Amino acid sequence: MKAYIKTFGCQMNENDSERIMYLLENEGYERTYDIAASDLIVINTCTVREKAKNKLYGHIGNLKILKSKNRDILICIGGCTAQDLKEKLIEDFPFVDIVFGTHNIAELPELINRRVSTGKSICSIENNGFDPDLFKVKREYDFKAFVPITIGCDNYCSYCIVPFVRGNEKSVEVKKIIRNIEGLVSKGVIEVTLIGQNVNSYGKDLNEACTFSGLLEKVSDIKGLKRIRFMTSHPKDFSRSVIDIIKNRDNLVGHIHLPLQAGSNKILKEMNRNYTREDYLNIIENIREEIPDCSITTDIIVGFPGEERDDFLETLDMVRKVRFNRAFTFIYSPREGTRASKIKDYILSEEKKKWFKELLENQNRISYEENKKFAGKKFEVLVEGRSKKGANLLEGRMENNTIVNFKGEEKLIGSFARVKINRVKSFYLMGKIYI
Ligand code: 5AD
Ligand code: SF4
Repeated sequence: MKAYIKTFGCQMNENDSERIMYLLENEGYERTYDIAASDLIVINTCTVREKAKNKLYGHIGNLKILKSKNRDILICIGGCTAQDLKEKLIEDFPFVDIVFGTHNIAELPELINRRVSTGKSICSIENNGFDPDLFKVKREYDFKAFVPITIGCDNYCSYCIVPFVRGNEKSVEVKKIIRNIEGLVSKGVIEVTLIGQNVNSYGKDLNEACTFSGLLEKVSDIKGLKRIRFMTSHPKDFSRSVIDIIKNRDNLVGHIHLPLQAGSNKILKEMNRNYTREDYLNIIENIREEIPDCSITTDIIVGFPGEERDDFLETLDMVRKVRFNRAFTFIYSPREGTRASKIKDYILSEEKKKWFKELLENQNRISYEENKKFAGKKFEVLVEGRSKKGANLLEGRMENNTIVNFKGEEKLIGSFARVKINRVKSFYLMGKIYI
């Protein structure tokens, strides 16, 4: 029996897909990358923006065709769109066999059995408070791994649907995290990425108090772990102690993903972000002072309801002041049920697109200029796989998260290589291995 899985969205979804694959393998399924050859299909959906949600609909026609050719194929829809739309997915698309929510991954084997024995489509969405074993996963890579440290989110940024589909924030106990990472390292993992919607608020809900920097210190002490990444940081909870520990520990990478979202205090307030542009700049100044090589990346939303040209110009001003290595930019997408979706929006979509383009042009130029600083220099990269940029090219990642493409043998994948940068683009570098 073969299972095909398609993942949309964030690292949390990628980790969930690794959990799903682990469960399916235990049930005797083998992974296939050929959807037409599969007996079971899982689409792990995202709903953070309308465009992300629409990716499911881009696939649904094909799923219908596959099902009409072979009635025994099981079609399962999981993730955040499943959590959001619930039974409606089965009502609209009766060929869907199983809809399962973000809290119901562990039930999947049972849902499959129930679907097969009853012949009826099933929707399982309730949060039963069941403690999911987050760490039982079939990993995509042998040498690097995601490690969830919190699940859910309590921040209720006014535009965001995540707290509604992922539930309240829960921290994973320190000892579980440490035990899991030690196990990973003993199996050859050299890089971990600690993931959570707001890693900086880690530990607030635990009986045994531990801050995020306390956790970082414990993870950093694990012998054999070469690189520790984490995301996402929230400026409102970002503490000085995180900067200190990155500065003092070699295995904590010099990269911080710190979503700005908007540059105008009026919009930040409307977004319920709980910091001002001045607070944000202050954090950046502290990072730059203590860790001059640290790369800083961000997320920015353009066209939040009520945002006017002057507000947008403040975002642009922040982009020019901070000089992010990279920014992930989005046009605001109203999500039903969120506070922002009820705010009247006067600005035309055409106008928002123009601002978006202006932001992109500025940021791409800055990314390019920042990358140019790496030209001619030598870096150690973790070789992650084959590059999509050309035959015989490998793709590696610098400590600061920048991607480098270079010629090399496949046996290097999973190890460190030294490369000299000889060409730069806005989003990646080209290099040459040196011994
Ligand atoms: N519209 C546009 N962008 C959004 N994001 C989250 N919700 C929305 C929305 N409704 C962006 C934020 C977040 C990133 C993961 O997605 O910038 O940091
Ligand atoms: Fe959404 Fe804000 Fe939570 Fe991030 S911190 S997941 S943007 S509510």
